Amino acid sequence: MSATVVVGGQYGDEGKGKILSYLALHDRPDVIARGGVGPNAGHQVVHGGKKYSLRLVPSGLLAPGARLLIGAGVLINPDVFLKEVSEFGLEGRCFMDRRCTLITKEHIDADAASANSAKIGTTKTGCGPAASARAARTAATVESEPRLEKYLTDVPGEVNAAKSLLVEGTQGFMLSNLYGGYPYVTSKDTTASTICADIGLGPRKVKDVIMVIKAYTTRVGAGPLAGELSVQAAEKLGMQEYGTVTGRPRRTNPGLIWDEIKLAADINSANYLAVTKLDVKFPACAHARKYAELPAEAKKFIEEIEGKTGVKVGLIGTGAEAEDIIDRRQ
Ligand code: GTP
Ligand code: IMP
Ligand code: MG
Repeated sequence: MSATVVVGGQYGDEGKGKILSYLALHDRPDVIARGGVGPNAGHQVVHGGKKYSLRLVPSGLLAPGARLLIGAGVLINPDVFLKEVSEFGLEGRCFMDRRCTLITKEHIDADAASANSAKIGTTKTGCGPAASARAARTAATVESEPRLEKYLTDVPGEVNAAKSLLVEGTQGFMLSNLYGGYPYVTSKDTTASTICADIGLGPRKVKDVIMVIKAYTTRVGAGPLAGELSVQAAEKLGMQEYGTVTGRPRRTNPGLIWDEIKLAADINSANYLAVTKLDVKFPACAHARKYAELPAEAKKFIEEIEGKTGVKVGLIGTGAEAEDIIDRRQ
C-alpha cells in the first residue's frame, strides 16, 4: 500500500481542499480517508467551474470511484454530514467509522454560550465541548443516531486494506492543541501522527507527508498573529479572505512566519511542501502549470522556502481550479 498524508502547516485554510482535489484526480487513490477535528473545518474545492464547500466529507470527492471515509477521531454533526452527502450525491460512497463521536445540540449550545469559547473565538460548531465529553467518557457515539446507521463502517479495516490511500488532515499546525499557540488552538492535535491515528493508520504505512502552506499567512479567531495587517491593507494586496464556516474576516500577514513553518515541517515529518495561492502573491503566475513558466521573483520565493525549511516544494497552486497546479514531485 502507498499512503499520502496531507496536513496544514499554518493556521488552517491553507488551501488543503484544492491540493486534495488535485491529488484525488491525479493520483487516483482507491480510498480517501479524512481525519482532523470535525465540522469546524471548511474546505473549498473548485472543479470545472463548480464550487464545493465542505465541512465533513472528504475533499477528495472528485476522485471517480474512490471510497470516501471519515475516521474515528472526527466529531460528527449528523445534519452537516447528511446535507453534504445529499448535496454532492455521495450516497453509497461516503462512510464514517462506527466509533466516531456524536456532536449534540447541547455541545453546540455550550460552545455558543461559553465565555472561554468567545475568548478563543471558536467556530461555535460544538467541537470543543464534544471533544471534552469524549475525553470525560460521557459522549455518545454515532451508533446512537439512527439516521447514520447505513453510513457506518470499520474505517481502520478499510484503510489498511487499501492499495492507494489519500489521508486528509484538517485545520493547521498552529491550531494544534499540543504544538500551536495554546490556549488559542483547537481541541486536539492536528499534526500528521494524530491525523493517521484518527483513521487507524499506523506510522510505518505512510510514504509521503505533504504539508500545505499558503504563500502568505491568515488566521481566523483570536490569538497572536505576528505582522498582522489591517483589513484595508490586506484588501489592497488582494489577500483579504473570509472564513468558509463562520464568514468572519481572516487576519492577514502578507509574509510567512518562518520559525513556525520550520517547526511544523519537522513535527509533521513533511517530505514535500505544497505552496498555494502563489498567483495571489505574484499575479504573473496565474494558471501556470510548469515551473519554467514562473517569473524569476516567484522562483526565488519558492527557493527561499526550500532553503529555510530544507523541504522540497512538490506542488504549487497557481489558481482556484483543482488543476491549476505545478507538480514537481518525483
Ligand atoms: P482549507 O481549509 O485548507 O481546505 O482551505 P480553505 O478551502 O478553507 O481555503 P479558502 O476558504 O481560502 O478557500 C480556498 C479558495 O481558494 C478555494 O476557492 C480554492 O479553490 C482557492 N485556491 C486554493 N488554492 C489556490 C491557489 O493556488 N490560487 C488561487 N487563486 N486560489 C486558490
Ligand atoms: P474550534 O476548533 O471551533 O474550537 O476553534 C478553536 C480555534 O481554531 C478558533 O481560533 C478557530 O477559528 C480555529 N479553527 C478551527 N478550525 C479551523 C479551520 O478549519 N480553519 C481555520 N481556523 C479554524
Ligand atoms: Mg478552511
